[in-house]
Amino acid sequence: NVEEITALLDEENGTLDPRIYSDQDLYELEQERVFGRSWIMLGHEAHVPKAGDFLTAYMGEDPVILVRQKDRSLKVFLNQCPHRGMRICRTDGGNAKSFTCSYHGWAYDIGGNLVNVPYESEAFCEDFNKAEWGPGQARVETYKGLIFANWDKNAPNLREYLGDATFYMDHMLDRTEAGTEVISGMQKWVIPCNWKFAAEQFCSDMYHAGTVSHLSGIEAGLPEGMELSDAKIPTVGYQFRAKWGGHGTGFYVGEPGMLVAIMGPKIAKYWTEGEAAARAERRLGSAERARQLMVQHMTVFPTCSFLPGINTVRTWQPRGPNETEIWAFTVVDADAPDEIKEEYRRQTLRTFSAGGVFEQDDGENWVEIQAVLRGHQARKRRLNIQMGKGRSAADNPHYPGSIGYVYNEEAARGLYHQWIRMMTEPDWDTLGPK
Ligand code: FES
Repeated sequence: NVEEITALLDEENGTLDPRIYSDQDLYELEQERVFGRSWIMLGHEAHVPKAGDFLTAYMGEDPVILVRQKDRSLKVFLNQCPHRGMRICRTDGGNAKSFTCSYHGWAYDIGGNLVNVPYESEAFCEDFNKAEWGPGQARVETYKGLIFANWDKNAPNLREYLGDATFYMDHMLDRTEAGTEVISGMQKWVIPCNWKFAAEQFCSDMYHAGTVSHLSGIEAGLPEGMELSDAKIPTVGYQFRAKWGGHGTGFYVGEPGMLVAIMGPKIAKYWTEGEAAARAERRLGSAERARQLMVQHMTVFPTCSFLPGINTVRTWQPRGPNETEIWAFTVVDADAPDEIKEEYRRQTLRTFSAGGVFEQDDGENWVEIQAVLRGHQARKRRLNIQMGKGRSAADNPHYPGSIGYVYNEEAARGLYHQWIRMMTEPDWDTLGPK
């Protein structure tokens, strides 16, 4: 019921009902209302460069196939054979001329059209029409290399949906006219917690990085001769809450010590000095944005998250209220020197990957909270989401959107505000950007 769901977040007093992370009924509703109507990031254009290249992916719990077409366009269709419901394609990706269901052999072309049915004339009635029996098609649009899909034909187009968040996405995706490419494969792993812990942290939580969670990991990986105090964990930085849509980001501004401590001196130098940094400055329009804005976290609602500077990109795949499958890959400027690409591959494996040192810190926090929420008392007590309340404003001369201090929960309130609207508004007529 609308009133009950709306009461899960009290923005005015800054409290949140923890049942949003554990309730099975809410989970079922969010499959329909959130994942059935939002733009979901499935991968990067570089994952499917040639005609017939495909990835199998998910939109919520719905399996889909993403395929590059002969005319370079992209199609996304449900990975479910409309005959008796079998998964059409059971591999992670590759190149295909067609897809044949392994149950009874119905075959689909790369556009998702049903093209062959064994014993069609002998076994099916005369009014059977193959054109009516392809799998459901989703809308597909891209933003600077990232591929998004949406089931809802009434949703706004992707650019409109992203709104003022594109300014902050470009900091990673548009530093050079060459765009970005993907290095290494897609890493996939499962953690026992709700997807919203991960999406919220990447949207809104720099607080954990500057306080306790990552300090031992930073210390353990410091380049030779560097002390933790040299990293000078910045105190200057901002957080952005999107005007509409639940997107958010936060970033430090200033000295590159934190980037050196996390990603090493080679990447910090590439990001802040030399030709690549100068080119990014010209392209992005200011040194503050290109060179001094670093170690950024970001979520595009609901499940597309990334860390510009560190350059890991991921999508949080819900697998029930208590489980999330993480799919992660690394992007890098397509024209970066090979040495920098290799360094990004090495450093993101070390820091943010299935075995990454910072990934372990994050996962430990989310998994422990989920375990605590098995308790009845723990689910009764509302959580505090007050940080930065009433202190953000939309008048920063450098940064669009509602801007506040970097340690903040304004963007988290924005994410849950959008989640509640998606869960309660009947359609895009009232949901859309105003
Ligand atoms: Fe796919 Fe029968 S379920 S052909």
